Amino acid sequence: MRAYHITGSIPRLRLVELPEPSPGPGEVAVAIRAASLNYRDLLQAASQPGLIPLSDGAGVVRAVGEGVPGWRVGERVVIGFMPGWVDGGFSQARQATALGGDGVPGVLAETVVVPAEALVRLPDAMSFEAAATLPCAAVTAWAALFERRPLLPGETVLLLGTGGVSVFALQFAKAAGARVIITSGDDAKLARARALGADITINYRTTPDWPALVLAATDGLGADLAVDVAGPATLNDTLRATRHDGRISLMGVLTGFEGAVNTAAILSRRITLQGIYVGPVAMLRDVVRAAPQPLVDQVFPFEAAEQALAVLAAATHTGKLVIRVAGDAAD
Ligand SMILES: NC(=O)c1ccc[n+]([C@@H]2O[C@H](COP(=O)([O-])OP(=O)(O)OC[C@H]3O[C@@H](n4cnc5c(N)ncnc54)[C@H](OP(=O)(O)O)[C@@H]3O)[C@@H](O)[C@H]2O)c1
Repeated sequence: MRAYHITGSIPRLRLVELPEPSPGPGEVAVAIRAASLNYRDLLQAASQPGLIPLSDGAGVVRAVGEGVPGWRVGERVVIGFMPGWVDGGFSQARQATALGGDGVPGVLAETVVVPAEALVRLPDAMSFEAAATLPCAAVTAWAALFERRPLLPGETVLLLGTGGVSVFALQFAKAAGARVIITSGDDAKLARARALGADITINYRTTPDWPALVLAATDGLGADLAVDVAGPATLNDTLRATRHDGRISLMGVLTGFEGAVNTAAILSRRITLQGIYVGPVAMLRDVVRAAPQPLVDQVFPFEAAEQALAVLAAATHTGKLVIRVAGDAAD
């Protein structure tokens, strides 16, 4: 079968021919039809030479191993981001099963073998390309909005940027009846966000003091919930734009991994700062059931995977980037 390996240099990916893998006991082989990219894939492409990249894939069951009741060859499926985290609480061991990074092979291959519990069945109406966008970005957005205390109708949510996670959060928040304030460094992307229902849009490049506009739009109080995908360089601004007793779902590292935090703002306003790390297969099942219509910016053929990664790095996209591994758009 054909697959990609991370090279550790530029170009970042190399197409290789590998033996067709077969499933062992408890496992299923999936013929991948589509895969999607996440910002994490750029970090892994810089640090994991020899690994098959990408965490998010959807396809068709090709072979079923021993002791796997309930799955048949030909069924349409999407694969959970962490096959070892099926449900329940989070742990280091479950985190270590995340696909396409830190030594665990990913899905940018014609066939992948995963534990059967990692699979979620697809409704007929959901394309492989749409399904492939869900395991990381959509599940993360879902966890950020609904996991601990669910976002309520009429509450205001603040979203940063218009990448994969934030656009899913926009769509889920509007479906939940919330009011959405979203930022971007690009006015054309803000127009796309408005078309998806965003109530207030702010360009953080032309308006560096964007928290002031969030406060102005919320009677001086701040957002009920903020989703911070950027991290150290934005967290203090996000804190400023979040109301007393509000919450921040923090999951992003777009501006790095550490920095000075205004701890007084957290405690004096009793803000709940909650870390997010994707979610279990059970949450992916909830997301599939919600049947979102992902905003897919571009679909690349399998042979253009390197180009897809370059577009991700340039951050010119809105929403998701997808690679079609096999089949056609009608799938
Ligand atoms: N912990 C988790 O569970 C988890 C899961 C998924 C993703 N993440 C993290 O979340 C972040 C977003 O991931 P993604 O896959 O959605 O990324 P993505 O699709 O590559 O989106 C990146 C977008 O973020 C926006 N951005 C960049 N710098 C910004 C800044 N300083 N302020 C506001 N927005 C900024 C830009 O949007 P504009 O062009 O519109 O400005 C950019 O296009 C990444 O750090 C990723 O590692 C974490």
